[in-house]
This record gives sequence, C-alpha cells and structure tokens, in this order.
Amino acid sequence: MLSGRALACSLLILLTSVVGCKRDLGDCNLDGQTPDGVPIDGPAAFDIAYRITDGLPMYEGQALVQSTCGDGAFCHSPAAVGADRIGVPAQLDFDVGLACNEAADAACASPPSCEGGQTDTYCQRLRRLHGNQSNIRDWAEGMIQEMRASAMPPGEAGRRVRNSTPWLRESDGSELPPIESGEAREIVRNWLACQAPVVARTEIPPSVQEELQPCPSVDDEICIYTGPQGELPEPAWSEIYWSIMFTTCVGCHGPSNNNVDQNPNNPLGGDIPGGASAPALEALNLTGSDTTDTTDWASESWSAVVNVSAYTGGVCAAQGTLVIPNDSPNSLMIEKMRDTQVCGTVMPPTGSIAGSLIQVVEDWIDMGAQNN
Ligand code: HEC
Repeated sequence: MLSGRALACSLLILLTSVVGCKRDLGDCNLDGQTPDGVPIDGPAAFDIAYRITDGLPMYEGQALVQSTCGDGAFCHSPAAVGADRIGVPAQLDFDVGLACNEAADAACASPPSCEGGQTDTYCQRLRRLHGNQSNIRDWAEGMIQEMRASAMPPGEAGRRVRNSTPWLRESDGSELPPIESGEAREIVRNWLACQAPVVARTEIPPSVQEELQPCPSVDDEICIYTGPQGELPEPAWSEIYWSIMFTTCVGCHGPSNNNVDQNPNNPLGGDIPGGASAPALEALNLTGSDTTDTTDWASESWSAVVNVSAYTGGVCAAQGTLVIPNDSPNSLMIEKMRDTQVCGTVMPPTGSIAGSLIQVVEDWIDMGAQNN
C-alpha cells in the first residue's frame, strides 16, 4: 500500500498539480548522451531489455515497473480484481505491457491508425497502454518515494516478484538488477524523469541485417524489432542451447529453483531460470543432473531431445519424436517452434521466436543433430 504521506502527496499532484510536493525526480538521460553528443554516465531511458522467457523487448524502466507492479495479473494491473489487487485502489493501473507483439500475433504486422477512436483490439490495447503510461507520469513522485522507502512492491507478494526479474539487458546480456537495489531504483527514477517512454509493439525484421533498427512509428507509439540480438548462433547444440534453449525454454522446461548459477562459463551468468511450468518440466527437462551448476546442461540435455519420443503422459504422446537427425521437417520440436504442431501448442507458448533462429536449429538437425 502507498504510505499516507506518499498517497496524499501524489493525490495533490494528481488532482490539483499544486506545489507542496517537491519534484525530486531529477534529470532525464534519454539515450546516453547530451543533445551535443557528449556521453552521459548511468542508465538511459531508451536502454532495452529482453524478457528471458519470450524475448519480448521493453525499455529497462518499463520492464522493471511492469514486472514488479502488475505484469498483467496482479496489484496495479487492470486484469487484477479482488484479492489479486492486494489493496490497490481501482483505476491505479500501471500496466505498460506491449499493445502488440508481432511474433505472437500476426495481426500486428500492419497495425491500423488508432487516431479516430477505433474499437479493434489493437487500438484498445494501445489506449490502455497510453492511459496507464499517463497514470505513471501522474504518480511518478509517489512511486519513486515508495521505492526509496523500500515499500513497493509490498509484503509477501512483493517478496515474490522481487526475486524474479527475468530480463536481460540488450547492452551486455546481463540480468536487470533486482527491484530493491539502488541500481534498479536509478533506472526507474531516470525512466520516470524522462516521462516514462514505452515500447508499444514489436515488428518482425525483414532480414537478419535489419534486426534491432527502430521501425516507423504509428500514432506516437514506439516499436522495436523483435528477434535475436547480434550474431546468430552457429548450428551446433552448445550454441543453440545457450542462445535459445537456456534463454527462452528453460524457464518452463527446468526445475523450480532460485539458485545462482555456479558455473563461471555460463555466458549469461546470474540466477538460473526455471519453475514456471510443472507440466512443461514433466514433458521435457532441458537442464542437467546438477541443478545448481549449468556447466554440463548443454551436453546433458542433448539426450533429452535427440531420438526421443514425445512424453507418454502428455498431449503429444505417440505423436512423434522431438528431434530426428537429418529430418527437421518431421521433428516435433521444429513443428512446435514453427507453430505447425499436431499436438499441444506452439513453443514457446507466447509465440514463435524469430524465423532466422529457428532456421539455425533446423540446420543443426539436418547436419545430423550431433552433441557438439
Ligand atoms: C511458458 C512455458 C513454456 C515455455 C517458455 C516453453 N515451453 Fe515447451 N512446453 C510447455 C508445456 C506446458 C508443454 C506440454 C504441452 C505441449 O506439448 O504443448 C511443452 C511441451 C514441449 C515439447 C513437447 C515435449 C513432449 O515430449 O511432449 C517440446 C518439444 C517443447 N515444449 C519445446 C520447447 C522449446 C524448444 C521451447 C523454447 C523455444 C519451449 N518449449 C518453451 C511449456 C513451455
């Protein structure tokens, strides 16, 4: 809950915009440099992070606020009702989830103009996003005060979300800092000081070379190309493992744990994802024998996919083999990644990853699917 003082303070700003609450958000660093091109230290509001589970991009401040204030499900989210709001007043929504994700929703490829009050789903979602963004602007000072007092997110629910911030920074692949850290506070403070810019939708790039270019904006929304960051992995299982399986699949296809990885060679470092879906783990375990050390996970998980029939207790029982060496079109794993599966859902369930990445997995399979 907001403390009485912060609440009163924020209400004043919200309702009357009078002085009396000092504006203490500080300076805004939008893109890491001054207008004359002099570099600025510290977080920039346009710094991007990717959600580990599905590769979704957001600005770092947007990601921290989204994943700890509501995330489409609890507290400050319009979808949260009753107990899920944990006492948050109605309308105090801070949900800044993307209005559209092209990888998950092909209809986003050519979004309509929403200027005329259109009522289609996309325009409704865009209005929701802009409305919540303006809530955040109104409540910015209260939010930062609460964070400074370590009062948000509160209680048991707060502890739960504080421990999971599964976002990787675009700049160096490191994990976003936990919400209670000074570093995260500075990211959010700067983002708020810059008027809380949001990534509104993603667009699938026409080619690998064009990935991560900003795409044309529609109705003031910001759009970011989705897709792999930087170089594509080589068609070898170890590279595929670290750049695709570990980042987008192990969150569900891995055991529940809050372990910090003991393996200094893990290119991503930090906490080990996992525990997001018991049925997924039962159907396919993409980790290794030691749940606290990822050293052997790539080589050990190979035998969980190559020449392995679908799990007999699952929806794909007797429907195929996960990876058939030299036969990518008939490998169940590729069918699921390409959304042409005969059983269950597309993998990851939020929508296919970039086609250029799936192609690398196909190449590896068609070269014999070795444990290399
Ligand atoms: C959000 C959770 C989640 C994520 C992320 C996820 N999966 Fe799954 N996966 C599931 C669930 C649940 C099932 C069982 C139901 C089904 O087959 O649709 C499953 C089943 C599968 C199966 C079938 C296993 C069998 O033996 O039946 C394969 C193959 C698979 N996933 C591959 C992947 C790959 C590859 C990725 C990453 C690119 C991935 N999954 C990411 C939840 C997830």
